[in-house]
Amino acid sequence: MPNPRILLVDDERSVAGLLSLALKDGGYEVDVEYSGERAIERLLDEVYDAVVADLRMEKLDGLDILRAARQRYPSPAVIIMTGHGSIDSAVEAMKLGASDYLTKPVDPSELTLALERVFERRQLLTELDSLRQRVGQLQLDNLIGVSPAMQGIFRTVQRIARTDVTVLIMGESGTGKELVARAVHNHSSRANNPFLTVNCSALTETLLESELFGHAKGAFTGAVAAKKGLFEDADGGTLLLDEIGDMEPGAQAALLRVLESGEVRRVGETRTIAVDVRVLASTNRELEEAMKLGRFREDLFYRLRVVPISIPPLRERTEDIIPLAQHFVTRYTEKFARRSIKLGGEASEALLKYSWPGNVRELEHAVERAVLLSEDEVIQPEDLPTEITRPAVAETNTAAMTLAEIEKRHILQRLEQCGGNRSEAARQLGISRNTLARKLKSYGMEDEEAEEEEDA
Ligand SMILES: Nc1ncnc2c1ncn2[C@@H]1O[C@H](COP(=O)(O)OP(=O)(O)OP(=O)(O)O)[C@@H](O)[C@H]1O
Ligand SMILES: [Mg+2]
Repeated sequence: MPNPRILLVDDERSVAGLLSLALKDGGYEVDVEYSGERAIERLLDEVYDAVVADLRMEKLDGLDILRAARQRYPSPAVIIMTGHGSIDSAVEAMKLGASDYLTKPVDPSELTLALERVFERRQLLTELDSLRQRVGQLQLDNLIGVSPAMQGIFRTVQRIARTDVTVLIMGESGTGKELVARAVHNHSSRANNPFLTVNCSALTETLLESELFGHAKGAFTGAVAAKKGLFEDADGGTLLLDEIGDMEPGAQAALLRVLESGEVRRVGETRTIAVDVRVLASTNRELEEAMKLGRFREDLFYRLRVVPISIPPLRERTEDIIPLAQHFVTRYTEKFARRSIKLGGEASEALLKYSWPGNVRELEHAVERAVLLSEDEVIQPEDLPTEITRPAVAETNTAAMTLAEIEKRHILQRLEQCGGNRSEAARQLGISRNTLARKLKSYGMEDEEAEEEEDA
């Protein structure tokens, strides 16, 4: 490792001076600050391998520095120096993710030793990481993915899980954004604390704020009792802000304040409450676009997107389709206690050819349905929804078909897609219900059903 960079923070100048000299002698590059405020500012601009901070300082202390450091990416290791008799604080610091703690007065050789240990451990983790990278990992928790894109995402999740950086997860609907967020939580030190989700598009501005930050009794009409917000409920854990792109401007400003201060204020109250929550955000929209249009705050965007994870749509990683389908076949045969069922070759081909506008969610539903419908041990194309098999069917030589045959095929497919609802099918086909009825009759399909459906 070429000269690791250390930020040393202590408000006692003599201690800081002594230790920094020792560190420089030990071959480290050292910056010194004498207050928590200055140290946190410095952390925003510069990248350090480690921070050594005094626990007790006026105003912002060692724990504040630790929190700030863990939100940086890459995160520096943090060693906390505690006065004698503050073992509880040392324990808290370790829980919050400090790499080590030393009791004051700190002997310079003790500090260099602690740093060596920390860097050794980091080195091991990096090696493990590159080993994993070489082996390739086909699954992370419930996440399946053999494509290079998904493999990259698995690695990123594991690399950043143990920090507190905010992560912005982007992807079309059904690509697995929530599953990725859960994986980040499950692999973090917060795994035993709550993982909560809030859908930012489903709530109006005031409701969202009261949902996130809580409210005082009587803060607004209907606030009959005081209520804790999700930030308080998620204390120690992770909060996923789903569909962040739809968040209203007022709520965006309030959220930014919370992210910067680490404190929430319930609607209608003046006191603030400190919270320790890791924030993840997800969106299926182009946030950059929304930002250009002035609908999404730029400062919030950059605050959230410390680590961006972009999940490609399923059609751009076709190598994931079959492994995912097999995973779902297993899951649903177990769930419905069916005897072992396999994915047939023809059905697999249909799955591979389809474009999956609903991404993995659509694939999961298609397989679930097929497992339920399949009559023998092999899933056949007939067990899949028609929109999936249709492109394959369309390719079966329409050139050799008469116009009437193509028409019949088209009408029947549309009818099936509409779940047998003839009025809807007629509307979509651009013909009258009577015309449709006449054509169906000519195919030998009776009209009575239609009336029943009309009534239903
Ligand atoms: N890589 C994957 N491996 C296994 N299952 C997956 C994967 N990706 C998605 N799924 C499954 O697909 C479904 C949709 O995933 P999820 O809810 O995470 O999508 P999303 O991106 O949050 O969608 P939306 O934008 O609609 O909220 C879930 O049932 C999830 O378990
Ligand atoms: Mg989701």
